[in-house]
Amino acid sequence: MSTATSNKSKKVTTHGFIEMKQRGEKISMLTSYDYSMARIIDGAGIDAILVGDSASNVMAGWDTTLPITLDQMIYHGASVVRAVKRALVVVDLPFGTYQGNSKEALNSAIRVMKETGADAIKIEGGEEILESVQRILSAGIPIMGHLGLTPQSINKFGTYAVRATDESEAQKLIRDAHLLEDAGCFAITLEKIPADLAGRVARELKIPIIGIGAGNQVDGQVLVMHDMLGITNEFSPRFLRRYHHLYEEISGAVEQYVHDVKAVNFPNEKEQY
Ligand code: KIV
Repeated sequence: MSTATSNKSKKVTTHGFIEMKQRGEKISMLTSYDYSMARIIDGAGIDAILVGDSASNVMAGWDTTLPITLDQMIYHGASVVRAVKRALVVVDLPFGTYQGNSKEALNSAIRVMKETGADAIKIEGGEEILESVQRILSAGIPIMGHLGLTPQSINKFGTYAVRATDESEAQKLIRDAHLLEDAGCFAITLEKIPADLAGRVARELKIPIIGIGAGNQVDGQVLVMHDMLGITNEFSPRFLRRYHHLYEEISGAVEQYVHDVKAVNFPNEKEQY
């Protein structure tokens, strides 16, 4: 094992996450929402799996992350946990399950931990949700924060454009990141903000900063799996690298299957009893 890579068989914990930052090892994270895909990406050595509320988009076909429910997130989370042997599993608390008050936030977090077996939860926001963050942490539930472009607030932002490009929003983001670290969060996701700002936060904080569209000066990267595999193909943000073009591959395979069935070319002699 080299000093820059972690043990491939040891379960990744929230403490392990922080140790990876300390030894300068970059953290790899992808989303996943179901057993079969989680089994593949865990076996391929991913460090962490986010059961993101992006399930609302890529699994359920909604335009935003707002409609997905706590029960649905628990269904996805439990499916992923059943597949995973090594990766740290983080489940998003969906919109409307933690913003109202800290008691509701704690109840939502407890349900996720009890009913999925996940390692941690993720919630969006800084100062405005601090009381909920503190109450969830006080119950011993690890939290990953999420700042910058926070998709649950899309109706306030009005656009998925880069966040914190002006000084006052950048200063608030830095303050919020420190508040989350001081409260006891074990990591923070920074979404779609300038690379230099993300790098500054990563240098100032001891906990790992996981970026998506936040440049390469942070401690790790997360992507939506359906985007990086090219299952989705409707958009191409600058930050997205497509490692495959599965939309075309799957579509080609299905076209071939349809052709074979119609031509009585499937099943052949060897494929029947
Ligand atoms: O839900 C999600 O997939 C996320 C990532 C974009 C970080 O929160």
